[in-house]
Amino acid sequence: MSVTQQQVLEALAGVKSPRGVALTNANVLSPIAVSDGKVFFSINVDAAEARAWETVRAQAESVVRAIPGVASAMIALTAERKAGAPQPATRRQAPGQAPSHSPGHSPSHSHGVAPVAAHRPPPNPGGSPMARQSDIPGVAAVIAVASGKGGVGKSTTALNLALGLRDLGLRVGLLDADIYGPSVPRLTGIREKPELNDERKMIPIQRFGLAVMSIGFLVEEDTAMIWRGPMVMSAITQMLRDVAWGTLDVLVVDMPPGTGDAQLTLAQNVPLKGAVIVSTPQDLSLIDARRGLAMFTKVNVPVLGIVENMSYFQCPHCGTRSDIFGHGGARHEAERLGVPFLGEIPLHMAIRATSDSGNPVVASEPDGPHAAIYRAIGAKVRDQLKGATAAA
Ligand SMILES: Nc1ncnc2c1ncn2[C@@H]1O[C@H](COP(=O)(O)OP(=O)(O)OP(=O)(O)O)[C@@H](O)[C@H]1O
Ligand SMILES: [Mg+2]
Repeated sequence: MSVTQQQVLEALAGVKSPRGVALTNANVLSPIAVSDGKVFFSINVDAAEARAWETVRAQAESVVRAIPGVASAMIALTAERKAGAPQPATRRQAPGQAPSHSPGHSPSHSHGVAPVAAHRPPPNPGGSPMARQSDIPGVAAVIAVASGKGGVGKSTTALNLALGLRDLGLRVGLLDADIYGPSVPRLTGIREKPELNDERKMIPIQRFGLAVMSIGFLVEEDTAMIWRGPMVMSAITQMLRDVAWGTLDVLVVDMPPGTGDAQLTLAQNVPLKGAVIVSTPQDLSLIDARRGLAMFTKVNVPVLGIVENMSYFQCPHCGTRSDIFGHGGARHEAERLGVPFLGEIPLHMAIRATSDSGNPVVASEPDGPHAAIYRAIGAKVRDQLKGATAAA
């Protein structure tokens, strides 16, 4: 029996909204997508009201799940930015990404996310990341790619690092946990929505030999999203545990930028075996990188190392290298902090163009110099992981 939108709307009409009217009359529902018994939609409310809507979202999910024939329901609570309101600091210009653009720095902590201080993450019973790692059956290691601030090339690095690890013969997955601005759909060119298996788990999309999952597959990429703290965890937890990852050696998680409460909660709750910090050579970014390091140390997640992205400028015409940002900062910082230095990635048009066209450089130019750099970083990460396992 196939489920219809009408059935979903009828079920939702029985849910009362905080505005006193039925949910279906509150003017907050996105179009409802129903396919093969899977129901996806979002409830879009004003950021200030979001807390009051959390229970409504949960109720909506349970009434939809109760409809005969519904295999799963994924209902997101999103807070849409009002026209004219300041842009949440999620999509940023990469520093110096093209000569005609001025470097864009925006401190990560200015993120347009409501404070989540009231939301205390559940305690981590095992205390150590090793105790947490077996949480996802079949996945041997979950690693985070993180940065202190946005726009440093974290997503680009996460995807190309995942491909580098794939090239070393590992089975690799990529989870885009940047629920504020998922960019993996764009970076991979994936447009389809995940299917469900018999156990009602979402099947990750296979692309470039990677198992890929992103919240962006479920909601539109350009919907401005401001998630409430508890929603952040439930969305990420669902993507980690309600996804049929299969057997993976490494699951690479592209973290949201910043080191705020939401990120800390995430770092604490995701069963991470280690973290890779991406930084640009600028001082500002290094200060942020230090903050990123401190965040992982706080939650007992080993830092596998630092990657310096946009490390030096490589002229696409003559190949000449210029250290326009005074490169080498991240290497020194890593040495100073006693953290492994994983490698330097140049600022290069090919990396930007391939990323932005959904054809990451390691996949599209496997024999080129950039792919070799990402593979070398991948090899160091793999060795760090081996070391972490041996030490456990
Ligand atoms: N090494 C590089 N050379 C050239 N361009 C790069 C490089 N790394 C990243 N970029 C470009 O910089 C921009 C930002 O990169 P990316 O989206 O990976 O950053 P991010 O840290 O994930 O950002 P956000 O904080 O918004 O999630 C993209 O346009 C990307 O193509
Ligand atoms: Mg990103």
